This record gives sequence, C-alpha cells and structure tokens, in this order.
Amino acid sequence: MNHNTLSSSWYQDKEIFALEKKYIFSKSWHLLGSINQVPNKGDYVAKTINDQPIILTRDNNNTLNTFYNVCQHRGCILLEHEGNSKQIKCGYHGWTYELSGDLRTARGFDKELLDFKKYQLKPIKHYIWMDQIFIKFDDDDDNDLKKILKKIEKIIEPLNFSDYKYRKRDTYKIKCNWKVYLDNYLEGFHIPLVHPKLNTVINYKSYKTEIFDDFSMQWCFLNPDSSPYKNSEDNNKAFYFTIYPNILFNIAPGRLQTNTIEPIDEQNCNVIFDYYFKDVSEKKIKEDIVFSEEVQNEDIYICEKVQKGLKSNGFNQGIFSEKYEIGVSHFQSYISEKINNG
Ligand code: FES
Ligand SMILES: [Fe+2]
Repeated sequence: MNHNTLSSSWYQDKEIFALEKKYIFSKSWHLLGSINQVPNKGDYVAKTINDQPIILTRDNNNTLNTFYNVCQHRGCILLEHEGNSKQIKCGYHGWTYELSGDLRTARGFDKELLDFKKYQLKPIKHYIWMDQIFIKFDDDDDNDLKKILKKIEKIIEPLNFSDYKYRKRDTYKIKCNWKVYLDNYLEGFHIPLVHPKLNTVINYKSYKTEIFDDFSMQWCFLNPDSSPYKNSEDNNKAFYFTIYPNILFNIAPGRLQTNTIEPIDEQNCNVIFDYYFKDVSEKKIKEDIVFSEEVQNEDIYICEKVQKGLKSNGFNQGIFSEKYEIGVSHFQSYISEKINNG
C-alpha cells in the first residue's frame, strides 16, 4: 500500500488535469444513466460527458443507441435536453437523421451522388448492465467493465437493479478537484466526525473496505432502528462501490443511488445523484432523499475545506492510515499509474 498521499499539486495543476482527461477520462467507461430515461420509441436525451456532446436514443426498432450529438454536414450540435421525435433534424442546414443514426435526407446534396452511409451519426460504444448504460469513447476492446460488473453482481446477489424504479436526479456543483470528492468517498474514517447522524444509522464497527482491480468496495451493517432505508431483516447491509475513476453505486435495502463525479476543471466538479427504489414506501423514499442530501452537504462542506487546505503553502503531502484508508491509497495508485504510464 502507498503510504503517502498524492501531493497537493495533483489537485490544482492545470497540466495534471489535462493529463487526467487524456489518459483517464477519454479511455474509461462513463455511466450515462438508466435505460428508463428513454422508455418509448423516439425518446432521446442529450448530454455532455467529458466535454463530448452525446445523444442517447431509442429508435423505431426499440434499439438503444448512443451517438456523438454532432451533424456530419458541418459539425453543428443536433439536439438539446430531451424529448421524443420521429427524426433528428439539424437546425443549421436541415439535414435529417433517423433515431438509429442513419442519414435520412441531406438538403442541398444530390441523393444519387452522396454516400449516405458515410454520413451516419458517429456511434459511441455502450454497455448495458441492470438497466444502467455505460459508454466509452475509445475503441479499445478491453472487457474490464464487464468483469467488474460480474464481480459486483456476485457480491450483491440476489439484487438486480432492473426491477428498481427511477425516481430523480440531483446535481451538485462542488468547489473541489474531483479527486478530493473521491478520496473522501473512499473512506468511512471521517464518518464519526463529519456525519454524526449517518454514524448512528450504520454500524461503524462493521465498516470494511475491500480492494479489487480497478474498483473497490466498502460495506457495513445498518442499524435497523435508525435507518431511513427499507427494513430488511435478511440483508441489512449497505454497499458502496467505486468503479474507477468516477462511478459510484450506493446500495441500501430497496435503494440504488448512483453517483458520477464529473470534473469541470482542476478545482471544480459536478456530482450527479440518480435515485432508484424498489418496494419502498413513499415515506421511506422521502426520508432517504432528505437524509442523502444532508450527508452530501456535510461531504461538500468538508471537501471544499480540503480543497482550500491543499492550496495552502502549509501543506504538500500527507499519509494514509493502513487501517482506514486503503481505499483512498488504492485509488490514488490507480491515478498515478495511469498518468505515469500514459
Ligand atoms: S451542419 Fe447540420 S445540416 Fe449543416
Ligand atoms: Fe462522507
């Protein structure tokens, strides 16, 4: 295990941030959301991930597609937000596309002379697991994500998130480097001090961290009396998975909360929460969301304080507790390896 933390320049240096984009985020899998966002034929959602404009569509054959949201005529962005449409029409010169990505009409061009196949929307690789859609920008054929998800599936058996219902999305803009948020997430060490209420909900003594290739897991038992989650006699556990670099699954009885940590620049990030529930009463859902917001606000407060401290001339590098911070150390080794090996 690494005993020293990354030095503070890793949290504020523009060049390191650019390297992270290049060697980590443009090669890693990203969580886009759930297939529930496009339940009907013709539904689409436009997003930006890692600075790339993307669209998710459900076409007439009920197939899900992920494309770059860019017209192949002269590069205009095609869709915004979300909606339902029979076709995708470019607002610049009027080219139209099917929701499957095929070019349908090319205004200003001779149908006989233009190779329509060449101007289809550019697809992005995706993978669906338990209704969650992951995308990847590069063409490397590595199956690491599949392996990771298989392992997670085994650990959480018999849970299957395909039966869970999507509830809502919250986005938090946080004034810290994206790794500050991850570092904080990857240990339960701070819980008694930063989250007094959460500390009564979980059984802190049972809190454990386990590390695997490219992901890690924290889990603990819940105290059923004070838990805002569904009472579950057979499986009163919470799991916190981190798929490196930035996908989190927070699992409690009857609830999946996914988080993605999206860097904005070297000192700011967005954290996106999606909530899914199964067989949970409305009262418990509301309780869970209020409680999650409370915990998140405590984490935001502490992360922003850490970012300020990292900028200070009075700190450069710290150390890890072997007992409590192996998850953070593992994550930071992953980051430095990716950057150092290019
Ligand atoms: S850029 Fe889309 S039609 Fe011209
Ligand atoms: Fe926390």
